[in-house]
Amino acid sequence: MTALSREIHRSGKHLGFVPTMGALHQGHLSLARTARSQSDVVVVSIFVNPRQFGPKEDFSKYPRSFEQDSALLQAEKVDYIFAPSVEEMYPQGATSWVKVEEISDRLDGRSRPGHFHGVTTVVSKLFNIIQPDLAFFGQKDAAQVAIVRKMVRDLNFDVRIVVCPIVREQDGLAMSSRNVYLSPEQRKQAVILYRALMRVQTLADQGESDAAKLMAAGKQVIAEEPAARLDYFEIVNSDTLEPVRNISHGALVAVAAHVGATRLIDNIMLMGPGQAKVGG
Ligand code: PAF
Repeated sequence: MTALSREIHRSGKHLGFVPTMGALHQGHLSLARTARSQSDVVVVSIFVNPRQFGPKEDFSKYPRSFEQDSALLQAEKVDYIFAPSVEEMYPQGATSWVKVEEISDRLDGRSRPGHFHGVTTVVSKLFNIIQPDLAFFGQKDAAQVAIVRKMVRDLNFDVRIVVCPIVREQDGLAMSSRNVYLSPEQRKQAVILYRALMRVQTLADQGESDAAKLMAAGKQVIAEEPAARLDYFEIVNSDTLEPVRNISHGALVAVAAHVGATRLIDNIMLMGPGQAKVGG
């Protein structure tokens, strides 16, 4: 992959990169499509990264569908799939980590200790191997976006991060590889995350700018669905992930909740009172 990347750069072409863990859905395909439209050569990685899963998390049962994924990527005219093995990425004795301090402990980082250290380690390795000019990430993982952007700034990675909007099912549920875990009943219940975000957006549209009141309203909606167990509902600065008291300068509204055993996340960006806008 490194030799190929060198060759691509030597020929003066721009390389666009989409990192994924496979089990591709329309959200991933929209990243590949955007990459296709902005780059000469598109590389998509498929690697279920063990380092970003906690000991009790779903690494072993995470959906893997390489044949189907590669057919989907071919249809999107992706040039190369980089699908290394765990042993190739983490040979015995590999003990180095990339940790972006503080911000990695916020939102999902608080509920999933070490998760973002695993993400920034693998993303750094992928950037070093693939040497992309552009890297495409989904807004659905808003905390990941903020942390990767900070890592790129802090460590001077020579790559531009492009963030693409959330792709939603018709009822609003954000597309996620983990949605396949949901039973038909849970699939219906899962839309509660989006409803809670929409409630916050409506209130912000009506002029409410107090973050505490908006969060309380969002939490109230989640509480109305007994099948949902809230992890967090927060309104934060989208760059630092620090809580904001007021949304008048815009903010990220982020939610995580379990429906059954499945942990789901979603978010919207508020642009300030009267101009709330769905974060994709
Ligand atoms: O967003 C994901 O699917 C993963 O966190 C990523 C960026 C591919 C790193 O493993």
